[in-house]
Parts: sequence; C-alpha cells; structure tokens
Amino acid sequence: MARVVRFHRHGGPEVLRIEDVEVPPPGPGDVRIRVKALGLNRAEASMRKGTYIETPTLPSGLGLEAAGIVEAIGDGVDGFAPGDAVSIIPPRSMPRWPAYGELVTFPAELVVKHPPSLGFEAAAATWMQYLTAYGALVDIARLGRGEPVVITAASSSVGLAAIQIANSVGAVPIAVTRTSAKKEALLAAGASHVVASEEEDLEAGLKEIAPAGVRVVLDAVGGPIFTPLTAAMSRGGILLEYGGLSPEPTPFPLLEVLAKTLTLRGYLVHEITGDPERLEAAKRFILDGLASGALKPVIARTFPFERIVEAHRFLESGEQFGKIVVTV
Ligand SMILES: NC(=O)c1ccc[n+]([C@@H]2O[C@H](COP(=O)([O-])OP(=O)(O)OC[C@H]3O[C@@H](n4cnc5c(N)ncnc54)[C@H](OP(=O)(O)O)[C@@H]3O)[C@@H](O)[C@H]2O)c1
Repeated sequence: MARVVRFHRHGGPEVLRIEDVEVPPPGPGDVRIRVKALGLNRAEASMRKGTYIETPTLPSGLGLEAAGIVEAIGDGVDGFAPGDAVSIIPPRSMPRWPAYGELVTFPAELVVKHPPSLGFEAAAATWMQYLTAYGALVDIARLGRGEPVVITAASSSVGLAAIQIANSVGAVPIAVTRTSAKKEALLAAGASHVVASEEEDLEAGLKEIAPAGVRVVLDAVGGPIFTPLTAAMSRGGILLEYGGLSPEPTPFPLLEVLAKTLTLRGYLVHEITGDPERLEAAKRFILDGLASGALKPVIARTFPFERIVEAHRFLESGEQFGKIVVTV
C-alpha cells in the first residue's frame, strides 16, 4: 500500500485527500519510483477545480512532477536500476500518470537520471518550468543574443525559468509582474527590467525599454494586457500564449496583428515532450544549464506531504516567487 493524493469531486484545495491505495508492480516499459519530492503546478489546481484542458474520471489522482529513487523496473526497461536518483518529465495525461504519491509509476521514456548533486527538491522543480520556457523561447522563437523578450507572470516558476534561459542565450529579459511587490526579487533573479502591469502604463514602459519593439513575448496571463503587449511588439513578432491566468476576456488586437503581421500562438509543453528529438535537445540544454549554474530552480516554499491542502492554497494565492515543492 502507498499513500496517494486523490479527489472525489471538483472544488477548492479542501477536496484533496490522502488515501491508501494498492500500487501494482510496474508493467512492461514502466519504472516505479519511491517519491521524495513533488513540484506543484497551476495545471494541478485547474484539474482539481475541473477547469483543466483534460477532464478526469473521478476519483482521480493528480500531479505532473516528482523526483525520487527507482524502486523497481518493468520488463524491457534499459538504463535504470533500483537505487537511481530520477525525476519525471511531465506526462501528457495527469489522471493516467499521477505524480502525487509515495510510490508512482511512469513510462521509462518520461524518467530522467538527474545529477544526484541537484537534490530531490530541485529535481522535482526542474522539468516543467525549464521545458516549458525552453520550448517557447529557444525551440520555437529562436530567441537570440541581445534580443529583448517580454515575460509575464514573471514570478511564476515558468517565468523565472524563462528569465534564466533568456540570460543563458544572451537575450534581455523584461519581466512583467502585477505589482511592484516582487520587483527587487525579480531584478535579483536576473530580470534586466521589471514593469508592474497594474501600477504602470505597460505599453509606455515596454516602449521605453525597447523602442524598436519586442519580437518575442511569452505570456501566461492573457486578458486585457494583450493590448499593451501587442502594441509594444515589433513587426513580425511572435506572442506565445501558454497560460490564461487572467479571469477576464482576452481582446483580439486586430489592427496591431494586421499592421505588424504578428503571430499570436498557443503553446503547450507537450509539443516538446511529445517529440523525442526535440525533447532530447531540450534535456541536453537543461542538464547543461543546471551543470554550469546558468539554470537554478527557485523554490518559493516547501510543504510536507501531509499539508498538500495548504500547499495548494499557497499555489493559488499568487504570493509565491518560484516553485512550490512538497516533500514526501
Ligand atoms: N502551456 C503549457 O504547456 C504550460 C506549462 C506550464 C505552465 N503553464 C501555465 O503557466 C502559468 C504559470 O504556471 P506556474 O505553475 O509556473 O505558476 P503559478 O504558480 O500558477 O504562477 C503564479 C504567478 O502567476 C501570476 N498570477 C497569478 N494570478 C494571476 C492573475 N490573476 N493574473 C495575472 N497574473 C497572475 C503571479 O505572478 P506575478 O505576481 O509576478 O504577477 C504569480 O506569482 C500557469 O497559467 C500554467 O497553467 C502552461
């Protein structure tokens, strides 16, 4: 038996329960992991609430990121052995491969041997944020040296990963955060500039920083800031929309899109994780960055497994600066 987190109905953090379940031995191609740490993602709160892009059958487990020790391997698995320190590439389906548990099973192709010196908490905070930011900025937008890039929800785990990745390729990260409360922390975390979108004129602020316009925008917010964001973009620019944090409707900035032939593009990390070649390049980039110190996961707060409900409350508070980690 192992303790796992499940929910029997959609709702607030209080619907999460810790339950004992039987964990079958790993099937062919699978790896069973004794979890040491979990990384939390906004997607998990959305699935718990019933507003995610995937609808689970209830009761359902959840979770997209974990790190731990290999306990057993299924038939046909090469390259892993019991005792290896490993972490998980976020699976395409959360209910199919839920990560919130003491013992979890994942297909071997989603399991990575991370450098043990990274530690389980940082390893659990690595793959979602860096794969998401790398896929958008490097794989798709081909962000280059000296280029300004606008990063919204800058204090989210993906936002901070994007700042580090932008710096690692020599680009100029412009952080957009709601208020000035996290401004100093964002500068210390590597942002070249910070604009507080609820306190300043976002369009004017961005145009002052990048008078020639910004080619690449990485946005997790949507809603009314689409207007100033697109107004500050350069001709031929690309806005990668990967979130939807704003509860307000998102306007379509027709004239800006037309006049500057902008690309407004939806983006899911699955584009990278679902393509073995692109995933391999992404893993190399991230492992190299971790080894050189250019990439270093920022952990906002750590909660014990028993306080998963409180961890979800903090996740949705918007107060965090980086990744929320749960130790198991
Ligand atoms: N498409 C994909 O494949 C993919 C992959 C990973 C994550 N995501 C999405 O990326 C976003 C960030 O995820 P995460 O798990 O790293 O972070 P998170 O913890 O959900 O993000 C928290 C940050 O988002 C900002 N924020 C919170 N509520 C907001 C609101 N109502 N309006 C505007 N900003 C708000 C705040 O930043 P400031 O205080 O700095 O404003 C806050 O610190 C989420 O929307 C998530 O669903 C998408």
